[in-house]
Amino acid sequence: MGYDIELLKEKLKERLASQHYKHSVRTAEAAARMARAFGVDEEKAYLAGLLHDYSRSTSAGQLVSEAERLGFEINPVEAAFPYLLHAKVGARLVELDLNIKDKEIISAIENHTIGSTSMSKLDKIVYVADMIEPGRPHEGLDVLRRIALEDLDEVFEKAYAHSFEYLIRSKQLIHPLTVEIWNKLIAKDNV
Ligand SMILES: [Fe+2]
Ligand SMILES: [Fe+2]
Repeated sequence: MGYDIELLKEKLKERLASQHYKHSVRTAEAAARMARAFGVDEEKAYLAGLLHDYSRSTSAGQLVSEAERLGFEINPVEAAFPYLLHAKVGARLVELDLNIKDKEIISAIENHTIGSTSMSKLDKIVYVADMIEPGRPHEGLDVLRRIALEDLDEVFEKAYAHSFEYLIRSKQLIHPLTVEIWNKLIAKDNV
């Protein structure tokens, strides 16, 4: 594909808080390993992992104004937790600022937080890699890490359940799309 990874890293480093930058590099590495295991383009996975948090260090107020500028509808859960917008806003800005037009990469960035009702293999890889990269302190990730190179659908379902449980345990609002995705996952309907 001929992307200049080192240049992209420099741009990312300028933009992200140091812990978010380091997390992004580890996510890229984890995503590339998973891509190799599941027959997905490794460079695309690395790039999508590297750029998935392009807007992660952006403040809540800035995320809302960027989402408005980009013409996104902001639902009540996103208004209460603008952090949720970092995936959608980041995906669009990677396209606009970095001129990355690859739809699969953009989709994986866009879907790394809430997900979507039709997740591609690459979408699932980046979603899971984001959660299991070795710097993550989360409890309960052992099972995910153990099966991350074995069964992509299984590890994605477990990862999604893990984050759903976390939202409930910590009494956070649930985005309506999260419920829709969960129901489709359980019904084995095309996620
Ligand atoms: Fe993120
Ligand atoms: Fe992340």
